[in-house]
Amino acid sequence: MTTRAEPSPGTLPAGWPTPDDSAAAHSERLCKTLADALAENGNWMSFRDWMEHVLYSPGLGYYSAGATRFGAAGDFVTAPEVSPLFGRTLARQCGDSLAACAGDTILELGPGRGMLARDILRAMQQDETLPARYLMLDRSGTLREEQAQTLSVLPDEVRARVQWLDRLPDSPINGLILANEVLDALPVERFRREASGVQQLGVRRAGDSFGEACRAAPARLAAQVEQLEDDLGRRLEPGYVSELCPDLRPWISALSTSLQRGLMLFIDYGYTRSAYYHPERRMGTLRCHYRHRAHDDWLLLPGLQDLTASVDFTAVALAADAAGLDVLGYAPQSHFLMASGLTELLACRPPSSSSQVALTQQAKALMLPSEMGERFQALALGRNFPAPVPGFQLYNHLKKL
Ligand SMILES: C[S@@+](CC[C@H](N)C(=O)[O-])C[C@H]1O[C@@H](n2cnc3c(N)ncnc32)[C@H](O)[C@@H]1O
Repeated sequence: MTTRAEPSPGTLPAGWPTPDDSAAAHSERLCKTLADALAENGNWMSFRDWMEHVLYSPGLGYYSAGATRFGAAGDFVTAPEVSPLFGRTLARQCGDSLAACAGDTILELGPGRGMLARDILRAMQQDETLPARYLMLDRSGTLREEQAQTLSVLPDEVRARVQWLDRLPDSPINGLILANEVLDALPVERFRREASGVQQLGVRRAGDSFGEACRAAPARLAAQVEQLEDDLGRRLEPGYVSELCPDLRPWISALSTSLQRGLMLFIDYGYTRSAYYHPERRMGTLRCHYRHRAHDDWLLLPGLQDLTASVDFTAVALAADAAGLDVLGYAPQSHFLMASGLTELLACRPPSSSSQVALTQQAKALMLPSEMGERFQALALGRNFPAPVPGFQLYNHLKKL
């Protein structure tokens, strides 16, 4: 009897940090489950399903395996990891929004390590605007321990307001739903436009490795691409590769049933639809992050690197509209943070915990167009929320969506 070798996690470019033995063994285990899933499905897996497996396979996926992902020791840095000023500024926006809609609850989706929750709650306590409940729901249950550890610095009476959820709340909340860099982590389909039709991109096993493959797109995906082209008012060029997020609509629809009165605030990197599918963006927006190296080899090191795609904010607005939500605000992160008071907070913050110089550097990373300021956008959706929406008074790009 001969045994077939399992596909390997791939070869790293020269000079990149190699995973230690336990991480390598982990990736090999995930490779085996991927190979089994491919074998069960006639040696085919769509890119969407690959992304789902490598990020969220229970116990094995990038976000589900309990290893360090965020911050300097991980693979990438998010705004709450860059500076406590981000959460401090959002706290003001949260306080104003809760007051405006007489809300009592904040639900944070995808809280990662819990840094944003810590900074928001700390600042809301100082401002005496604490919500009755701060709910946290992450797709990855294994991050809870890390979140609890991060929140352990908060006083007991603040921590008592925090609750972890396994699913969306049973009764709709009055208040705020927050998600920083969560939309970009929803699995996406990859497709290629050809003159003859739409191709779905995916994976096949070729010998001892995984390889990119394609097939004629199923009718649903082909129709979604054609709908996109109708909205753009033009056909994508033959050979044009991009992504779309089929899970977005059902996700927003489910979230909308969880909000009785209040706001949803999404902050993420992305574009309006016409910029997302710009003729020059011929290879889409898919990115991989491994130990602070951004690249596009998405087959590399399954389970050990992040996969992410930019957000089509027009798609989010359309999904919100279909779910009966009001689309209330859209602005670059820099404008949103400025309108929420970041510059005042920077000026009045006592230089105790971080030096003023360090905070100024952090504020630049959050605000400068060349850093996060314009790559990231803030989108506010509402239900029964009274205008104006805090954070969008200076600048509101709604008409661009
Ligand atoms: C890029 S990380 C961002 C973490 C954190 N918000 C931050 O800014 O540092 C994405 C997080 O979203 C979580 N996530 C992905 N899809 C989710 C969903 N549908 N619901 C809740 N959390 C989700 C992931 O498990 C991960 O913790």
